[in-house]
Amino acid sequence: MNDATTPQRQRSDEWTDAYTRVHMNVFGTPLRVLDHGKGCHVWDVDGNQYLDFLAGIAVNALGYAHPDWVKAVGEQAAKVAHTSNYFATVPQIELAQRLIALAGAPEGSRVYFANSGAEANEAALKLAKKYGGSLPDAWPHMGDKPARILALTHGFHGRTMGALSATWKPAIRKPFEPLVPNIEFVAAGDAGAMRDAFAQTGLGHYGKGPVAAVIMELVQGEAGVVPLKADYVREVRELCTQHDALLIIDEVQTGVGRTGEWFAFQREDLGGVAPDVVSFAKGVASGFPMGGIITFGPKTSSILDPGSHGSTFAGNPLGAAAALATLNVIERDSLLANVEERGKQLREGIMATGNPLFASVRGSGLLNAVVLNRPCAHEAMRWCLDHGLIVNAAAPSVLRLAPPLIVTADQVDEALAILARIPADLDND
Ligand SMILES: Cc1ncc(COP(=O)(O)O)c(C=O)c1O
Repeated sequence: MNDATTPQRQRSDEWTDAYTRVHMNVFGTPLRVLDHGKGCHVWDVDGNQYLDFLAGIAVNALGYAHPDWVKAVGEQAAKVAHTSNYFATVPQIELAQRLIALAGAPEGSRVYFANSGAEANEAALKLAKKYGGSLPDAWPHMGDKPARILALTHGFHGRTMGALSATWKPAIRKPFEPLVPNIEFVAAGDAGAMRDAFAQTGLGHYGKGPVAAVIMELVQGEAGVVPLKADYVREVRELCTQHDALLIIDEVQTGVGRTGEWFAFQREDLGGVAPDVVSFAKGVASGFPMGGIITFGPKTSSILDPGSHGSTFAGNPLGAAAALATLNVIERDSLLANVEERGKQLREGIMATGNPLFASVRGSGLLNAVVLNRPCAHEAMRWCLDHGLIVNAAAPSVLRLAPPLIVTADQVDEALAILARIPADLDND
């Protein structure tokens, strides 16, 4: 920062006024107007520098302006930026091959590309709907009942109509009801509640339709980085297998290295289970809007057939080139190991700061949360910003820390030094 206590914000304030005059107010007032970045740092239009421990909400895996990423996107832009899906491109094919291999998905697995996390989940939910219709005793046969999709309380899957229907937070869901029917919420982490939800199938007149799918995150990111217990995840997998339901794991936030494995479902401490469908987005292309799903095995992979789904930009070669560059750098520079080590350093360092505001810390790899002992996360986030550190208030008393996967030990120490100084007497939000 130019000056930690009185940052210069004149140009940022002018641009913020201009922003509010032309943008629909769905995001609130922007905190700053940013201009450029390099590595884990970003600068606003007044020249103030910030260490970014949010990375565009777990997106900028390689930080800002990574030379390999810039080169790959530039070269692809100079060749072909977009084709329709009447045609294919080599980067798109190579990316699908790589993702299937990194996910350890079996022979016959497939990828569908989308442009965001919500769109990835739309594809997964459409797949689950179509699958549900094919189950015995399910709609649309005479006298049958519609198949159900089970989602978890506190889960977040996006804001499009389908993804929103599986998103728990009533404040963002209720104004748009009625949403997609036959999606039910089951208490997150409660194996008994999940067993009960499955058991409601086929109880004669009072029973419900079969369960087509369970959709869940392994770490509930937007709820405040809350991991599900491995035993619970394994039991949900078991129930899905017993009842022929699909297990959809939403790895939009956790996927592509963020938790220290390529995908969180590969972590033993988060369940170590085989999903039927995995959705991904955010970090996969390190800043290029891209997402998608991986369907595991030939049966699940053939549910969506020609004409049943699609999108103009799906598998766009620019996005595919950005994603391939991202995966290459993660592999070449052993970033998964860095994620594991820096995450440990961060979690240990947070409690060692002795800041009386900090109650606990949780997370995996570089998806972490500091739990505050008071609901002052927004105030704390603003204080950090004024002192050169970008973090995010994921819940009223939770600060989320999700730096780029390239973050160094010195940068973690730098962030810890700022976090240590957050005043314990901040006002509540
Ligand atoms: C787990 C999860 N799923 C889905 C989404 C929606 O992704 P997008 O904002 O790209 O639509 C998010 C976004 O935060 C997410 O965290």
